[in-house]
Amino acid sequence: MITVVIGLQWGDEGKGKIIDHLSNQYDIVVRFQGGANAGHTVYYKDQTLIFHLLPTGIQHENIMGVIGPGVALDPEQLLHEIKQTEEFSGSVRERILIDPRCPVVLPVHKAIDGWEEELKGGIGTTKRGIGPAYRDHYARIGIRVGDTLDPDQLKKRLKLTLEFNNQILGARYGKPPFLFDKLYTELLEWGKTITPLVRDTHTYLLEQLKNRKYILFEGAQGTLLDIVFGTYPFVTSSHTLSSGALVGLGLPPQSINQIIGVTKAYTTRVGKGPFPTEIHDNTAQRIREQGNEYGATTGRPRRCGWLDLILLKYAVSLNGVTSIALTKVDVLSGFQSVKVATEYKLNSKSIKYPPAYTSHLEHVKPVYKEFTGWSEISNPDSLNDLPRELIQFIRFIENYTETKVGYISYGIKSEEILKVG
Ligand code: IMP
Repeated sequence: MITVVIGLQWGDEGKGKIIDHLSNQYDIVVRFQGGANAGHTVYYKDQTLIFHLLPTGIQHENIMGVIGPGVALDPEQLLHEIKQTEEFSGSVRERILIDPRCPVVLPVHKAIDGWEEELKGGIGTTKRGIGPAYRDHYARIGIRVGDTLDPDQLKKRLKLTLEFNNQILGARYGKPPFLFDKLYTELLEWGKTITPLVRDTHTYLLEQLKNRKYILFEGAQGTLLDIVFGTYPFVTSSHTLSSGALVGLGLPPQSINQIIGVTKAYTTRVGKGPFPTEIHDNTAQRIREQGNEYGATTGRPRRCGWLDLILLKYAVSLNGVTSIALTKVDVLSGFQSVKVATEYKLNSKSIKYPPAYTSHLEHVKPVYKEFTGWSEISNPDSLNDLPRELIQFIRFIENYTETKVGYISYGIKSEEILKVG
C-alpha cells in the first residue's frame, strides 16, 4: 500500500507535520527527489526537529527510512543529520537505506550554486548545490553514491566532474579549484562509513510491497517548484509532482494507492518568482509572525499571500490528488476577513487556469472572494467543532477543487490535526 504526500504550493506547506502524523500507520518513509534543500519540521518530545535529507518519521523506531535514486545526496549533510537525530532517538543507522544510484552533491556544487545566483537572475536558491549536482547528473559527468564504494571508479568519475566544475569556478568566477586528492580521500572515507546503508532500494521496495508493507513517499518542495510544471525558471531542479515518485524510485504508476496534497490556508513563497496573490501591506507581516513564516533551511522571511485557488486546482490536477491536507488554519484565526483568489484577469480577459508562460503569470490580477474570518480553534473532535466560518471556507475549497479535504492541521503540535472525511 503506497501513499504519496506532496506539496501543492511553493513548498513549506507543512508536509513534515502531515507525514509525521501518518507515520504511525506506515512501515517505511521514502524520499524520492530533491536533497538537503528541503526542510521538514516536526515536533518530537517537545523539541523541534528539522529533516533536510533523512525521511521524516525516522525518529520513530518502527520506521525504515529510504533515500531513493532520485535524491541528490550531500554526504556531509547526511552524516550530520544522522548524528543529530541519534541524539534524540538512539541509533537510526540500521533503519536507513540509501540507493547506490543517488547523485552525490559535492562541495564544488554548493560553491557554484552560490556563485551562479547572479547568472540565473537571483532565483534565490538554497545554495545546497542541488541544481549543479543534478546538472552534472543529467550531463552524465556526475558521481553516484555507488562510485564512492569503488576506488578506481571514483577516481575516474571525480577527475571528470572536477575538471568540468573547476573550469567553471576558475574561468567564470576567478575562484581557486577544489583539489582532487583531498576530495577523493574524503569521499572514499565517506563511502566506507555508509557501506552498510547502501542497498538497491528499488528491489527493496518491490519486496516490501509484496510483503504488504505500508509505504509513504515523502515529496519535497512543492508542485509550483517543479522543474517542468512550476514557475520556471524560479523552480527547483527536480520533479516535485506525485509522478516524480515513480521516476525517482522506478516504480510503476499503478503502484500508488493514495495521493495526499498539502496546502496552507494561505500561500507563502521563498526566493524570487511570480506570486499573484502576494500581499504587500501589514497583513503579510501579520501572517508571517503568526505563522512563523521563516525558511526552515535558510531562515529567510517567506513572502506571504492569500490562498490561490487557480493554482491550487492546477496542482490538484497535476498530481491526481485524492485528498487535500489543509494546514495552518489557526494562523488566520482572528482575522476579520480572509480572501481566496478564484480567477485571474489577464489583459482584461478572465482566466481560471494559470498561463503556461511564467512571464504571463507575473501580469495576472487575481479576483478574490472574501470570507468572514474565524475565531480560535480549540480541541475539535470533528469537523462540526470547528468555527462555522472555517467550515464554509473549507467547503468552498472542496467545491472549487472538486477534491475532499481529508486533514485539517490547526497548530504546531503533532496532535493538533483533525482527520475528516
Ligand atoms: P534550489 O532548490 O536550492 O535550487 O532553489 C530553487 C528555488 O526553490 C528557490 O526559490 C528556493 O527558495 C526554492 N526551494 C527549494 N527548496 C525549497 C523548500 O524546501 N521549500 C521552499 N522553497 C524551496
